[in-house]
Amino acid sequence: MTALIEAASPHVMNTYGRVPIALQRGQGCRVWDVNGKEYLDALGGIAVNTLGHNHARLVPALQHQLTQLIHTSNYYHVPLQEQLAAKLVALSGMQNVFFCNSGLEANEAALKIARKFGHDQGIEKPEVVVYEKAFHGRSIATLSATGNPKVQAGFGPLVEGFIRVPQNDIEALRRATEGNPNVVAVFFETIQGEGGVNPMRIEYLQQLRQLCDERGWLMMIDEVQCGMGRTGKWFAHQWAGIVPDVMPLAKGLGSGVPVGAVVAGPKAANVLQPGNHGTTFGGNPLAMRAGVETIRIMEEDGLLQNAAHVGAHLQAALRSALGSLSGVKEVRGQGLMIGVELDKPCGALVGRAADAGLLISVTAESVIRIVPPLILTTAEADEIVARLTPLVQALLAE
Ligand SMILES: Cc1ncc(COP(=O)(O)O)c(C=O)c1O
Repeated sequence: MTALIEAASPHVMNTYGRVPIALQRGQGCRVWDVNGKEYLDALGGIAVNTLGHNHARLVPALQHQLTQLIHTSNYYHVPLQEQLAAKLVALSGMQNVFFCNSGLEANEAALKIARKFGHDQGIEKPEVVVYEKAFHGRSIATLSATGNPKVQAGFGPLVEGFIRVPQNDIEALRRATEGNPNVVAVFFETIQGEGGVNPMRIEYLQQLRQLCDERGWLMMIDEVQCGMGRTGKWFAHQWAGIVPDVMPLAKGLGSGVPVGAVVAGPKAANVLQPGNHGTTFGGNPLAMRAGVETIRIMEEDGLLQNAAHVGAHLQAALRSALGSLSGVKEVRGQGLMIGVELDKPCGALVGRAADAGLLISVTAESVIRIVPPLILTTAEADEIVARLTPLVQALLAE
């Protein structure tokens, strides 16, 4: 089996530089590969496996759903959509929800809402403010909104209608949009994920809310990675006490089952009308059940509090183990979305950590990203630090 994994897979398109292991089963925050080797999962399928693996209440709920309906069609009412939408509306303080299957789909829908919001006011060439280092997905529109030239290379011409600004600089945003009547929305992640775990400052978020209100722009917050409890609040922007007009979600919402959603507030809730947008799979009963049960279990088990508590413990432990090393620039993040920025590229750590029984990722070349399941315990957090520390020390010494 090992030999098979080490050889390139000839029939799967070569879109990922893969770690040469194949995972077979999981339990909680642990996974095992086909050779029986155990790993501590500090990646959670890239901020997806909210409840960890093989959860004792999620799996039977999904099994039951399989015996009822997996998929019907949006030609008919799907009561579970109403159930999940009502919950998301209550948690966000917003108004209604469109369901899809992934983060980029949620962002595409958000961008369509922004454009139609503009057209409905007679703006023929609507423009959306986006951010340096942002990541919104890999469709043509969402890679155009993304602020990483590597993601865009080879896929031009890009979609037009984006104005790019730096994070946390309200004056730069004012300058970039001054006198421009075509601006319809500001689109950003509360904490940039792929861009290197870069938080928006609370004060900036509040200024931005005010500016959007003054100018009649939609505030569209991509909470695909930082949302769904990861930071210790349901949605990361809630730390700033603000409410967006449009909020794409995905990743953690279905705890591993693909679910995407766009939550809309009053300004955006009625922009899309029958015929404007749609999806075959979006909102299917299996995906909706995954979302409903994920949120139910998060509430029953206090996983927001756990994310906040274990996240603070983990960040403090990382800071004390690594913070004083000269090659460590910063340990940052919120809850269980943590980045450790080094002063040099550290992609090699991904494979070395896997060898040491730890799953992590490296993003923006030099940022170790830790986004584990929200059920992580403090003992497991300590184990992450114990396994990671010697690897970082060794890399910095090279
Ligand atoms: C903030 C953000 N938006 C959108 C996406 C794209 O989501 P998906 O890979 O489900 O299309 C990602 C994925 O990493 C993300 O982090």
